[in-house]
Amino acid sequence: MEMMLAVSPYNQLALSGAGPVRDIKIFDTTLRDGEQAPGIALSPEDKVRIALALDDLGVDFIEAGFAASGKAERDVISKLSGMGLSARLCSLARAVRPDIDAAADAGVDYVHTFIATSELHMRYKLKMTPDEVVARAVDTVEYARERGLEVQFSCEDATRSDMGFMKRVVSEVQKAGASAINIPDTVGVIIPQAMGAVVKGIREAVSIPISVHCHNDMGLAVANTMAAIDAGATICHVCMNGIGERAGNASLEEVALNLFANYRVQTVDLGKIGATSKIVERVTGFALAGNKPIVGRNAFAHESGIHVHGVMSNTSTYEPFLPELVGVDRQIVIGKHSGAHSVRGRLDALGVRFPDDHMPELMEAVKDIAVGGKMIDDAELVAIVDNVLRKKETGSHSVALDELTVLTGKNTTSTATVSVVLADGSRSTVSEIGVGPVDAAINAIRKAINDEITMEEYKLSAITGKSDSICEVTVMLKNVGGDGALSVGKAVGLDIVETSVDATMAAINRDFARRRD
Ligand code: KIV
Ligand code: ZN
Repeated sequence: MEMMLAVSPYNQLALSGAGPVRDIKIFDTTLRDGEQAPGIALSPEDKVRIALALDDLGVDFIEAGFAASGKAERDVISKLSGMGLSARLCSLARAVRPDIDAAADAGVDYVHTFIATSELHMRYKLKMTPDEVVARAVDTVEYARERGLEVQFSCEDATRSDMGFMKRVVSEVQKAGASAINIPDTVGVIIPQAMGAVVKGIREAVSIPISVHCHNDMGLAVANTMAAIDAGATICHVCMNGIGERAGNASLEEVALNLFANYRVQTVDLGKIGATSKIVERVTGFALAGNKPIVGRNAFAHESGIHVHGVMSNTSTYEPFLPELVGVDRQIVIGKHSGAHSVRGRLDALGVRFPDDHMPELMEAVKDIAVGGKMIDDAELVAIVDNVLRKKETGSHSVALDELTVLTGKNTTSTATVSVVLADGSRSTVSEIGVGPVDAAINAIRKAINDEITMEEYKLSAITGKSDSICEVTVMLKNVGGDGALSVGKAVGLDIVETSVDATMAAINRDFARRRD
């Protein structure tokens, strides 16, 4: 495991903390706060699928939803409660008795209840006095205990609440029987140094475990969670892929990895992070940004020549930890910034032999295709290699295409103009129409060469089936004016018309070469 990490040596010097960090509990709220992300609406089957994945990952708590929000939610929480998951199942509840009843009736034995403690929320949202808030908090916790529930209590908007008042609230709810106090940074407004101070402040008022729940509005959710843990919090609320209200919650995978990398604290089964992230992405329909740490598609993708070279000789040069630690794959991307080293490495990995002396042509072909930012995948690279080798085999061209212009559109007759330099050096420029741009272009070439070539077969395929995929065109021409022989031409490229024309030119040159030999 040690070899898998290459984090900064300064981290250990900086981590002063409030004592040794160990036994941190992961309280996953993907199914509750995560589902509150605009655009996510999970069906009961979706919730079961995600809960199973989270359980398999090894989280300690699963906040499965908000039982009081409706029958369907209660039913799915009930179903999950009966599934014998290893994780402790929890429902959210406002600090009102009917919400506690809904949670208890859904079959959970753990409830997360909350009431706002900031002046702002108490005055404008709750329209309650601080004394009323304390009384409601205490009543709710006592009632939940009577109903047989273990209680985690949240001071909503804690990071904008008066510390003296929060201390009063939390010590009262501890007396009422709460077993953990959660400190939510509800609007993601605190900074790590201050979060540490808030946790230390609350720890002075209670002896029960402290939990944190950090939102990412200012991009500090994970940093704040880590600061809270360093200051003595032992439960962290997180969501897989960092989903959640607005800018989301602290991401499970980032917190778990930081705990492991900097404190050697193993929470979840790190090797299952990649797969779990994919399940959550697919089921929620919430697509990950390519640059999402740990699980984004670029997190272990290397394209630039310098980086690929470095990673190939020692992965730590440009990777803080090995991708296998978190169950994802490294990708050496072939694109605009790739060097010959990357392409050669990729070909070797694929078992494709390619002569060194043709490498410059291959690199030129790769750059031509990658120029618009396209990433070339394995299947496409193999097609490009074939194309380069094919061109080499065909040798010098008898006929060369110099210019191609195609005019096409809706309710327009497709027209192509080509200028071809013939074997004797003369130039033939012609225009032709066709049923589409490809047909018009090929008709124009046939006419420019000689009209006695017919197209016997035309095959077009996309190498990877994506809309920006390289296409491959195969044409079969018949020399009907001569000996009636067939010649085949192939080409690959990004543009269907250009590639069709290249394939046609390849077939024509094959025919010329055959007749010359
Ligand atoms: O962000 C928040 O404050 C919450 C509460 C329900 C704890 O999600
Ligand atoms: Zn929240």
